[in-house]
Amino acid sequence: MTTRLGAALIVAAACAAGCDEQLADVAGPTPNLTPTFSSIQREIFLTTDSAGRAACANCHNPNGSAFRQVGLDLSSEAAYGLLVGVPSRERPELLRVAPGDPDNSYLVHKIEGLAGIVGLRMPRSGPSFLTSGQIQIIRRWIERGAPRD
Ligand code: HEC
Repeated sequence: MTTRLGAALIVAAACAAGCDEQLADVAGPTPNLTPTFSSIQREIFLTTDSAGRAACANCHNPNGSAFRQVGLDLSSEAAYGLLVGVPSRERPELLRVAPGDPDNSYLVHKIEGLAGIVGLRMPRSGPSFLTSGQIQIIRRWIERGAPRD
């Protein structure tokens, strides 16, 4: 972790919504990424970034391998309704996104590659995986209550 990222994470932890501008410092290969659903879908789910990470929607679309296996489409307007408050197929005791609780959101477990996940770390094509800054911004959206904006 770079010093700059470390500092930004401390700021993010210490601040409420007013400090979200600081997260721009950690967005790395997706400089326009902000902690909103529309930005996360546009910059992470739909986009292959400059660090070589594959777009999630390559597989998570209605015709893709991941949709057949776990029923998760990240490519369309259905994505929000398939993530927020919906039980994971792989670990049904966990929600894919538990509003306000990134530590108990299976989406976060899968992009961090936590012990206890079923299947592989996402993106399944990785490495490259998401950077710690990208993950921090997704966590922040969930902490904000995972709003649909
Ligand atoms: C190369 C294809 C591929 C890519 C790219 C990919 N996935 Fe997946 N994903 C899968 C497959 C296949 C599964 C089921 C098997 C597994 O978990 O390894 C899965 C499972 C998941 C699950 C578990 C769903 C559940 O209900 O338990 C989540 C969450 C997930 N992916 C999120 C993502 C995200 C976010 C990205 C992008 C950062 C991504 N995936 C990129 C193929 C992919």
